[in-house]
Amino acid sequence: MSHPNSFYITTPIYYVNDVPHIGHAYTTVAADVLARYWRLRGRDVFFLTGLDEHGQKVQQAAAKAGIDPQTHCDKLAPRFQELWKRLSISNDAFIRTTDAPHKSVVQRYLQELFDKQLIYKADYTGWYCTFDERFWTEKDVENSLCPDCKRPIERISEHNYFFKMGQYQDRLIEHIKRHPNFIRPESRRNEVLGFLTTQKLGDLSISRPKSRLSWGIELPFDKDYVTYVWFDALVNYVSALDYLLPAPSQNRYWPASIHLVGKDILTTHAVYWSTMLMALSLPLPETIFAHGWWTVDGEKMSKSRGNVVDPNKMVDEFGADAFRYFLLREVPFGQDGDFSEHAMARRVNSDLANGIGNLLSRTLTMIDRNCEGTIPDVPQDYLERESQKYRLLIHAREQLLILGKSLNGFFEDLEFNSLLLQITSRATDVDIFIDEHEPWRLAKDPDKREELNAVLYTAAECLRILSLYIYPVMPNTAKNVAEQLGLDINFSLPLLSQEIKWGDLQGGTKIRKGNSLFPRIESKTQGAKPVSESPAPPQPTPAAPAPVAATASAATPVTPAPAAPTQITIDEFMKIQLKTAKVLTAERVPKSEKLLKLQVSLGSEQRQIVAGIGKKYEPETLIGKTIIIVANLKPAKLMGIESQGMVLAAGDSEVRGLATILEEVDPGTKVK
Ligand code: MSP
Repeated sequence: MSHPNSFYITTPIYYVNDVPHIGHAYTTVAADVLARYWRLRGRDVFFLTGLDEHGQKVQQAAAKAGIDPQTHCDKLAPRFQELWKRLSISNDAFIRTTDAPHKSVVQRYLQELFDKQLIYKADYTGWYCTFDERFWTEKDVENSLCPDCKRPIERISEHNYFFKMGQYQDRLIEHIKRHPNFIRPESRRNEVLGFLTTQKLGDLSISRPKSRLSWGIELPFDKDYVTYVWFDALVNYVSALDYLLPAPSQNRYWPASIHLVGKDILTTHAVYWSTMLMALSLPLPETIFAHGWWTVDGEKMSKSRGNVVDPNKMVDEFGADAFRYFLLREVPFGQDGDFSEHAMARRVNSDLANGIGNLLSRTLTMIDRNCEGTIPDVPQDYLERESQKYRLLIHAREQLLILGKSLNGFFEDLEFNSLLLQITSRATDVDIFIDEHEPWRLAKDPDKREELNAVLYTAAECLRILSLYIYPVMPNTAKNVAEQLGLDINFSLPLLSQEIKWGDLQGGTKIRKGNSLFPRIESKTQGAKPVSESPAPPQPTPAAPAPVAATASAATPVTPAPAAPTQITIDEFMKIQLKTAKVLTAERVPKSEKLLKLQVSLGSEQRQIVAGIGKKYEPETLIGKTIIIVANLKPAKLMGIESQGMVLAAGDSEVRGLATILEEVDPGTKVK
């Protein structure tokens, strides 16, 4: 049994039939984030990734390239290893199934099962799909096409060796039922249970005759056969512990804490691997987590469509951290998502450039200008002394520390996107208190020195703590934030094994302001594709739905002629009160794709506005922004929620952008 403090995480081992794509990057980044987090927490982490080098796919790719399979693998392996370096992947080991010690372990296990009579030889006739490397039964097949990949398949009759997988069916069902975390997410667990409880589990052909496929591990008990690639590949999770670590480490790390896989290879893991382990009398992994798939610009990603996303290109264009952030922020882990460079650019700008990037830069600029480039000194209890005055600062501190206490939960549940949303909201809290206290104004008044120091120290201390939270997802950014704050933080230490302490940032630290963390991506956002699929309401965004006037009688249908724009007098215009308002909170209206509920400050009063801008904006990106509203509109109810005004936005059939103000102006200022 593994040690209680150990955390063993794996990715699938990838076929070396081609260069890596976004799907490979996705699992590997997610695994890296978990590995980095648990190391910060002080766990004994072993993070394994690698390559699946045998089988038909690799043999075919090598043949196509006109080289022998091993040369082909040796040529492609560095492409994966280099990408992992560029993506800051911190794997502890890298396995290749052509490693001699791996092959020995596979052969040892095969012999063991053969000796236990759990492997037998039999005749087999069936439909074989070369692409998927698997047999199908008569009832699965229609028109001689593979039910999975729809390619033509062949009828094959041959002797093969079979693993008695079927006999473990009940035990496997029992195991899944008893261990709710064994297959995750729950929907996938139900799928697997669904087919295991309704269909008979057959035995698994674990050999391929060399006459048909020679590129594989020879069966120890029959030289005419090689091992089926999945039997070979799955063993990697255990064989790696035998030879890739200084000492054999099954005791230390097995069973694995989590196998991360894509949804398409869940069955091979949940069924083949689990039953293999049962037969070998080894414990089953704690969790197999199946994530979703990426489409690209709404389409399935494939070579033939020419839309395969090259992670190297994403690193070139956006940087490794931004790409990592996007992959985990854009969709809940476990669900499918859509990738587009436009969406990527939008995320980088809204969450990173305007978010933490801007926060660090404005904080350090103000410290540079007003505190001679050193973190200001503040008394230990500076916030409590004037708790009323500093209530927003206190709120930001409390929320940030609360988030610190709930980090484990996010990582245990693999809820990366909710965590990142929390982190960006905490950065927004800091932006809000900076705006409220207007340090640029405080700096002009010598009597306000203490308040200025309090605001700038709090902002810098929040940034220090935020750097710890973002480290697993954006390790380079975390280091950069710390460095710019003038700190020398070694993130490879178990920094989160102790509770985060407010006030660790020392006054007097010399900051080292550097380049902006995330330069805004301009070109990608201009001429951007429409964000929404269906037209949004006409602008300005109505606070109340326009009265539906389409009640012309059926007998006299009237199509109004396009009217010339109506002109109004200045007096009429002056009746409309436009004012600046600062967004304090924003959230989606349940069951509505379009509507957001905003709380805005007009300085002396607070209003609630329901606005149809939800297709264009994520609520959290609006917090702290100064927008323009129609302040004297009669209140109206939208989906049962009162709206006390209307926001101004550009756009015709869909929202293009909110009207904002270039300069810092107080909320409630008149606009004309
Ligand atoms: N070699 C096997 C795994 C053996 S593990 C013991 C294999 N390799 S693979 O290279 O074809 O696929 C590796 C992973 O990439 C799978 O987890 C798969 O889900 C993932 N993806 C492939 N295309 C993908 C997307 N479009 N989106 C997300 N992940 C996808 O299968």
